[in-house]
Amino acid sequence: MSYSYKIKSLEQYHQDYKKSVDDPEGFWGNVADNFYWRKKWDRVLDWNFTEPKIEWFKGGKLNITENCIDRHLATMADKPAIIWEPNNPEERTRVVTYARLHKRVCQFAQVLINNGVKKGDRVCIYMGMVPELAYAVLGCARIGAIHSVIFGGFSAQSIADRLFDAQATFIVTCDGAYRGAKDIPLKSIIDDALIGNKTVKKVIVYTRTRVPVSMIKGRDVWWEDEMDFAETQIEKNGVISFPAEEMDAEDPLFILYTSGSTGKPKGVVHSIGGYMVWTGYTFVNVFQYNQGDVHFCTADIGWITGHSYILYGPLSAGGTSVMFEGIPTWPDAGRFWDIVEKYKVNILYTAPTAIRSLMSFGLEPLKDKDLSSLKVLGTVGEPINEEAWHWYDENIGKKKCPIVDTWWQTETGGTLISNMAGITPAKASWATLPMPGVQPIMVDENGHEVTEKDEHGYLKGNLCIKAPWPGILRTTYGDHERCRLNYFATYPNLYFTGDGALKDENGFYRITGRVDDVLNISGHRIGTAEVENAINMHSGVVESAVVGYPHDIKGQGIYAFVIYNGHHGDENQRRQDICLTVSKIIGSIAKPDKIQFVTGLPKTRSGKIMRRILRKIAEGEIANLGDTSALLDPGVVVEIRDGKI
Ligand code: WTA
Repeated sequence: MSYSYKIKSLEQYHQDYKKSVDDPEGFWGNVADNFYWRKKWDRVLDWNFTEPKIEWFKGGKLNITENCIDRHLATMADKPAIIWEPNNPEERTRVVTYARLHKRVCQFAQVLINNGVKKGDRVCIYMGMVPELAYAVLGCARIGAIHSVIFGGFSAQSIADRLFDAQATFIVTCDGAYRGAKDIPLKSIIDDALIGNKTVKKVIVYTRTRVPVSMIKGRDVWWEDEMDFAETQIEKNGVISFPAEEMDAEDPLFILYTSGSTGKPKGVVHSIGGYMVWTGYTFVNVFQYNQGDVHFCTADIGWITGHSYILYGPLSAGGTSVMFEGIPTWPDAGRFWDIVEKYKVNILYTAPTAIRSLMSFGLEPLKDKDLSSLKVLGTVGEPINEEAWHWYDENIGKKKCPIVDTWWQTETGGTLISNMAGITPAKASWATLPMPGVQPIMVDENGHEVTEKDEHGYLKGNLCIKAPWPGILRTTYGDHERCRLNYFATYPNLYFTGDGALKDENGFYRITGRVDDVLNISGHRIGTAEVENAINMHSGVVESAVVGYPHDIKGQGIYAFVIYNGHHGDENQRRQDICLTVSKIIGSIAKPDKIQFVTGLPKTRSGKIMRRILRKIAEGEIANLGDTSALLDPGVVVEIRDGKI
């Protein structure tokens, strides 16, 4: 495959950027011509940010799986689409060629149909990182069902909430999942999530760990039985095929839940055409992907990074994507480097938290590892500190591999701001320049464009985007008004990212982190209100306030101030009880790192918690807590400050 939209020089970047802004319809129409459409769109773009209404390639007919699979079969049937590395390095690797991927996705599409799934139905996927997860996702896309993948670390309660919100009718899961030394009993968690559920009709269970599972007659079916049967149905004269459903570019492709500043996660909805074009375009350009390169994105498909840069982006480009079941530190901290060596990985894309964690093991795990295949390194998910950036550059890239620092969000579908490997300049811990089609603007609290530079010569403000790019979210599932309020109402006619940023004299952006009540723990988004709600579910808790604080490995840690009124246990036992409560309500990723018991919280006379003060205390900035005169009881601040842990 050739990618006619691939940017090959800095000069071309500037030209393409200008074209994309001057004539977005002409520019993106040309890019979209690189994909397979059964029928061309009626109009490239129609939009306003007030409703918001955003339509890309409307009237265009396609199926994303024909783009990710079928169109590669003529020339690349035997080429690896997915290389799967098991949790246990002694277990056999699985190489899924495009031909095999086609067969399995067709089979699974038939399985879905056999079980009553129809176009537009919501299918929840709760699986470990096995190739079958890719078959499930793409099988849904093939028949036009809307997939909603839930990360394996979420609890039964979180799944139940998402099933309800999406009114999901089907679930695809595994008996269990391997992650490092742990086995996670996925099916059993699903069973708990289904207590009281009224919408789910069928649960399809893939066997991975072969732990005992309960199988309910009429509801639960085995993946293997269903796949075998489907194979006999769709094989005709030795040819396996299952026709892909014809979809409109603006039909929804998937829902992915993500945290915001309110208590309830939102179901971000992406539609097919724009998302496909955006992930394909950014994949090829940011990583400067060449045919035959081996791309290893270490994310989990439960997050947007896995959707866009393990599956859809690489596959639509006819790429080879490594999918890893395990974790970077098991059986030892050399695991990523073993994988790079084993598959001659060319592009490694990971999170700053993983880099910091691996840094803490020193250079020993890198000894004798051949990393010479690497050409490009990438990071995503949180700001990368300069120390980690340089460690990555020196020890992994050996100063020969450009590092792309890709800034984006679940809502943006793919990368919005990043350097392009070897094409546009890199700057340690700066995401640098916007992708073509992305028009950032920095505003102050009142929505006025920031024009005054700070003492370092930077513009500093809240990061917004002026116009839609093809991969922008279309709505939040079942509640369009929520989408408007969350993203398009803070500043009129702008998409508000929730992030703060700096801009230097070259027009480079540095993302400084969230300016709303969203935490970024190891690159995972968690709302403070969500964690507070979970803590408050504990019977002994009267009230709580949660803030983030700098954490050496995770980037941010969770600090909870808790008013407690129970009698059971000592402080440590209470902390453990609270942590377990949070694990049950949200999942272990949201467990507080620190819990401080307090007798009161700093509140204004109108009852609002002054988080600014709590944040400063948690960050250890106790010398200057600012003005506390607006507080109902300034004395409580002294108590909290002195009790800091
Ligand atoms: C943060 C992950 C700095 C940011 C793709 C954003 C980053 C949130 C970067 C979205 C980066 C992501 N530099 N910060 N390169 N990439 N972020 O939805 O705060 O899980 O708003 O999407 O992660 O997280 P999400």
